[in-house]
Amino acid sequence: PTQLSSRSNDSSFLAKMKSSGRNVIVFYGSQTGTAEEFAGRLAKEATRYGMKGMVADPEESDMTELSRLTEIDNHLAIFCLATYGEGDPTDNAQEFFELLQAGDEQLDGIQYTVFGLGNKTYEHFNAMGQYVDKRMAELGAVRMFPLGMGDDDANMEDDFITWKDGMWPKVCEVFGLEAQAQDINMRQYKLTVHEEYDPSRLYTGEIARLNSLKIGSQRPPFDTKNPFMAEIKINRELFKGGDRNCMHIELNIEGSRIRYDSGDHVAIYPINNPEMVSRLIQLVDEDANRVITLTNVDEDSSKRHPFPCPCTYLTALSHYVDISAVPRTHVLKELAEYTTDNKEKEQLLLMSGTSDEGKALYQRWVVHDVRNIVHILEDLPSCKPPLDHICELLPRLQARYYSISSSSKLHPNTIHVTANVLCYTTPTGRINKGVCTTFLHGLKPDNGTKHYVPIFVRKSQFRLPIKPGVPVLMIGPGTGIAPFRGFIQDRNLQKEEGKPVGETVLYFGCRNKSKDFLYEEELTEYSSASLIKLYVAFSRDQEDKVYVTHLLEQNKEEVWRIIGKENGHLYVCGDAKSMARDVHALITKICQSEGDMTQTEAEAYVKKMSNQKRYSSDVWS
Ligand code: 2AM
Repeated sequence: PTQLSSRSNDSSFLAKMKSSGRNVIVFYGSQTGTAEEFAGRLAKEATRYGMKGMVADPEESDMTELSRLTEIDNHLAIFCLATYGEGDPTDNAQEFFELLQAGDEQLDGIQYTVFGLGNKTYEHFNAMGQYVDKRMAELGAVRMFPLGMGDDDANMEDDFITWKDGMWPKVCEVFGLEAQAQDINMRQYKLTVHEEYDPSRLYTGEIARLNSLKIGSQRPPFDTKNPFMAEIKINRELFKGGDRNCMHIELNIEGSRIRYDSGDHVAIYPINNPEMVSRLIQLVDEDANRVITLTNVDEDSSKRHPFPCPCTYLTALSHYVDISAVPRTHVLKELAEYTTDNKEKEQLLLMSGTSDEGKALYQRWVVHDVRNIVHILEDLPSCKPPLDHICELLPRLQARYYSISSSSKLHPNTIHVTANVLCYTTPTGRINKGVCTTFLHGLKPDNGTKHYVPIFVRKSQFRLPIKPGVPVLMIGPGTGIAPFRGFIQDRNLQKEEGKPVGETVLYFGCRNKSKDFLYEEELTEYSSASLIKLYVAFSRDQEDKVYVTHLLEQNKEEVWRIIGKENGHLYVCGDAKSMARDVHALITKICQSEGDMTQTEAEAYVKKMSNQKRYSSDVWS
């Protein structure tokens, strides 16, 4: 039973559609904003094809109204749904997911189509999109166009534009419309420049409420819309050599009433690189201190402003707009309108189109060369878009999530973070820096300066077994060590409390013993005290690579004893793409050889382990 009926009138998307003459509604299930962005693009495009669309957040909509969409002629419900974690819906689509599962809805004749956002690196690729696509049909709805599945590991943008390029003509055909998109100017937000303003009413980086980030006047509970300003108490280098950096950060949460468990994530809101911000402002000849408001021209939209307004351009570009990500194709299309040189303009139009040549050029010139908005404006000097339009087009700057590397039982007043500082040279010879890690790297509590960052905690499913006696096998090379540091601290405390603590085995991997062996002293100490059994793979200390997977394979009898015979729990944390995949394949192989199973049986066994929460992953790509 959901609480859908108790919502305010505002949750009636049907009433809104009827009163404003709309026939297309685009629902999104979004965690990091991409699905929401895609939904916005689709709603806008509906207009180009002679329909009228709107975007809706399922969490704020009475989804039981879906069954009544047939009251609207030529109606279409589009779902842009991201799959999250281990095949789960995003937070805002959770209730809708449960509603479909319950299966009480009569969706006869409801026309719909689904685009899923996922990542092939993960096991449950696009599980949410697939489920909704199938379930809607089971409940009687009419699939207007086949499910699209975006793969973030390859090229999500390409998957999306290819899908919608097929979807719209099909919809037009059914609705009896001309399948020819019109090129009409479609600004979503109207610019107001404030010549006079009250400085105390300007947003300066708050996520939602004015002044909510002021130290001293913060109010719990803290969450994504109301983050806590945590003081950085410690920010020290963990690497002992080499030219890379890895930070150990301790965030003070005293007095915040924030609680966390080992395995949870902490989210941090970054500030964009100041040099990049001023470069962008300079490239379009704007005034950083101009005070603006962007207001949605669609009065029915629940989103009045793209970000908190009024604010200065400097604030918008530092706190609210993601200027580092590579722009998507619809951005390039709009940039073309402001480009005077014909060759440059043609290049932008080509890249924003769906021809093979255009897609390949976008893939090479934007994605492969990692050109962000600044690089594009630098390399296409005749492109001079107004800054307010850039602010409208680029996605919102998102908080970054880190696996917490401390135990709240040992450190109730601090949250520890272990993070590599991301920095690399792009194919065009530019240096790209990770937004949040670069920001944090600059915040050292030296000579009395205090630094605060907006944070909140996100609960996870990554948990030690409830019974301390159960053995655990943890695999975490690189910064994948993070949650296991918390786990080990927890196990140590349990031991000190006299509980019977089971075997605790850790596989760690790094390049060189002398450079990037994270927490070497702590880990060796725990190991000498026999709290943990430690295996370390140094990949670059000898000619041939040695990885955690090699050590696991050498110790396969022990691995099988723990997971197969003693019903232990296995945990993997770190790089999703190669490491976690290889570990998964190897564990399946060990089940086969040591557990005497066929390939199919071994795969089923590993799947069962994951269903029983005996095989858990906290991985990133
Ligand atoms: P490499 O960089 O020398 O290839 C942490 O990043 C450690 O994980 C590094 O020592 C890295 O080695 C190693 N690593 C890279 N790919 C891996 C994989 N597929 N499985 C296990 N470890 C891997």
